[in-house]
Amino acid sequence: MEADEEEDLATALRAAGYKGVKCGCDGGVCGASKVIIDGEARMACGTPAREADGSEIETIENLGTQEDLHPIQQSFVDHFAVQCGFCIPGMIMEAKDLLSENPDPSEREIRAAIDDNVCRCTGYQKPVEAIRDAAGRLDGGAVTTDGGNASNEDSPTGGNYSD
Ligand code: FES
Ligand code: FES
Repeated sequence: MEADEEEDLATALRAAGYKGVKCGCDGGVCGASKVIIDGEARMACGTPAREADGSEIETIENLGTQEDLHPIQQSFVDHFAVQCGFCIPGMIMEAKDLLSENPDPSEREIRAAIDDNVCRCTGYQKPVEAIRDAAGRLDGGAVTTDGGNASNEDSPTGGNYSD
């Protein structure tokens, strides 16, 4: 993936086809652009692309496919935690980061993790329930097993959300 010198990572990823990276604010407020950079969920809009050079970057495209959803994605579907869907990629990437560090989070810990992921549709209760359930599905934090990682040189695959 190539990026202009001053480009932010969200813009660079979207230009490279990773349209699951959403941009819902003027920067750093809504959480829609969260991706996982070297194992940590961060807002791609606030990250200069050059700063991520050489990093391992995961976007929602690196999780499941429509036919074979990642357990966190499946849990969101099963709990009806998706309405318009715009915030969901960022929320799922935050959930993946959380569950990789804390395989059995409490409701309070889940709410703290997603407190900078803005959702104007769901009221948060269903996403919280979905993440709790996903923790059980992942059975002790095996979050990375079917998510797959991709470097920022990989081509987009398996996107579940259009722009
Ligand atoms: S677009 Fe990145 S936090 Fe809103
Ligand atoms: S589902 Fe619509 S903004 Fe979250």
